[in-house]
Amino acid sequence: MTIPAHAMGEMIDRIDGPDKVRGLARYAFEQPVERPAYLYPVQATIARGRMVGLDCRFASSEPGVLAVLHRYNAVRTRAQDGLGELDILQSDRVAFRNQFVAGVIAETSEIARHAAGLVRVEYQSEPHDVAFSADRDDLWTPSTVLSKFPMEVDKGDVDAGLADAPVRLDRTYTTPRYYHNAMEPHTTVACWADDQFTIYTSSQGVHAARGSIAALFGLDPRQIRVISPNIGGAFGSKAHVNPELILALLAARLVPGRPVKLALTRQQAFFQAGYRPETIQRIAIGAQEDGHIVAMFHACTSPTSQVQEYAEHCTRATPTMYATPNLRTQQRLASLDIPTPTIMRAPGECPGMFALESAMDELAVECGIDPIELRMRNEPETHPGTGLPFSSRNLIACLREGAERFGWDERDPTPRSRNEDGWLVGTGVAASTYHALQVPGSVATIRAEPPGRYTVLIAAADLGTGTWTALTQVAADALGVGVSDVELRIGDTAYPQAVVAGGSAGIASWGTAICEAAGQLRQRLGRGGTIPVEGLEVTAQMPENPYADQYSMHSFGAQFAEVRVNAETGEVRVPRLLGVFAAGRIVNPKTARSQLLGGMTMGMSMALHEDGVLDARFGSVVNQDLATYHISSNADVGAVEVRWLPEDDPYVNPMGTKGIGELGIVGAAAAVANAVYHATGVRIRDLPITLDKLM
Ligand code: MOS
Repeated sequence: MTIPAHAMGEMIDRIDGPDKVRGLARYAFEQPVERPAYLYPVQATIARGRMVGLDCRFASSEPGVLAVLHRYNAVRTRAQDGLGELDILQSDRVAFRNQFVAGVIAETSEIARHAAGLVRVEYQSEPHDVAFSADRDDLWTPSTVLSKFPMEVDKGDVDAGLADAPVRLDRTYTTPRYYHNAMEPHTTVACWADDQFTIYTSSQGVHAARGSIAALFGLDPRQIRVISPNIGGAFGSKAHVNPELILALLAARLVPGRPVKLALTRQQAFFQAGYRPETIQRIAIGAQEDGHIVAMFHACTSPTSQVQEYAEHCTRATPTMYATPNLRTQQRLASLDIPTPTIMRAPGECPGMFALESAMDELAVECGIDPIELRMRNEPETHPGTGLPFSSRNLIACLREGAERFGWDERDPTPRSRNEDGWLVGTGVAASTYHALQVPGSVATIRAEPPGRYTVLIAAADLGTGTWTALTQVAADALGVGVSDVELRIGDTAYPQAVVAGGSAGIASWGTAICEAAGQLRQRLGRGGTIPVEGLEVTAQMPENPYADQYSMHSFGAQFAEVRVNAETGEVRVPRLLGVFAAGRIVNPKTARSQLLGGMTMGMSMALHEDGVLDARFGSVVNQDLATYHISSNADVGAVEVRWLPEDDPYVNPMGTKGIGELGIVGAAAAVANAVYHATGVRIRDLPITLDKLM
């Protein structure tokens, strides 16, 4: 048997690419189904209160309307602990403006939309409270942790450390609401027939979705099939079941045998598909005059809804970053009359590292030390939070490589020192990090058929990021065959259990299950490797990582930005971004580059543009489309250079990968903000950096 060259590390074109560019790859809404019906939601027009009257006569009598779905005819669902946002159409309560209160099912989407406007709902409104601040007296400490990392950390004596430090800094940073805005909206086609749900939906994890649906509707999971082969972006907004999927399922129950199609409009997605909540973060750092940190305090306050807990865990990365004997992190929540926030690309780390990496830049200025040098001086020996050694940590190598490529040495650190034809030019740097996780619970099946065909089944998800290709590469290497000998099947609960594509843990989790199955298969095939005529099938679960408790596992990076700020108008342009990352083994340089570049661009968008503006009078965000919620577009993006360092980490998982979906966004906004300070001498601690704040 010839051993083919390694598939991992090869720049392979997307396996799903040709079908996608030819329009053949089907997304949820496009699934051909018999006699589809269309659902259009009715949303609450108050921010808090009760529904006291409902008149469906006009809507129902509209030709083509099949049914009006409301709380009197919706099936009763079973409230799940901690998932209050899914209890829709179950009571008369309105918990936030634009909450679903009804829906119209019709023969066409146009009729459904028109008739939805004819449903009359009478409300008794109550005063709403959307006033987010960090000094409310009803803030509370969250309990939910998205990963194994503790919500709060308390090490040493921070107060004493801060009091004794010769250099002290105490700053507040704020970030607004951010919306995922995936290109493909939240879509579902749901059919209830013969006591079975068949559901096509845009989902980051079909098994997890099935589990939630089964619990909510009191069904056996075997009565539910969830299918999601192609996804047009998600960024976390399709990781959990959202109210919109439940609305579609309730509708499907009302018209058995008719597949119900629902696609949220862009505007509706602003209220039903989660968002990254605004944050208020306080960072206090005490340091020696030479920049060595002696104490650090990082507190984050974020809002959640009245029906469900979600905490933006901004302090999660803080214990990973810098050596300090005294460290305290604090998380607080405010429960308001707003929709429930959710995870969004690097939840926690993304806004958290904007604050921390801005503060580090401020400390560098305070101490008169180069910001890269400052980070090097505070490089920890072991993980400052857990005390464990790092499985690998190449932050300094990333900073060094980046500094060289970016031309950092030529930089005059004096703010406002470069004026080129009326544009103030500045450069900034920030560190990036994300935890390298494996989430237990994935199973892979591999079928081998002679002479050498392998089918790999696992209900993983490709958010448009490259899973189809990367997992095929992982499988090919694990089987010791070429990628063309492997056929991957994902995105369907008909395939074995796979964890949600989240926390950048997809490849690490699914890939390990595939490696395990491949190893067992090769063992059973024996030395000759001949596949029996009848074929051979092996199913294996992801084994536990024996090193999980022995090492702290994280990816790192260095983000560099050059900005030009118009001295007259304050307009900010970003001609150049450079990201140098260390994220273990890179499975596919092509898809990996896209992921990191996309993350960096999203971080720049966060720095300069994105801003969900809440109107307190109405209790809702007013810029609820892409015309008013600004996202960096092509004309805003200059040169974005993505590099990574070779990194061999034998502890993270059999592939040596660390995950790259979220790393690219972390630190990018701080690099831009730090560059803006360098260009102008104005420190913006409140995102986005709009020109009014610079004038
Ligand atoms: Mo990602 S925000 O963990 O789906």
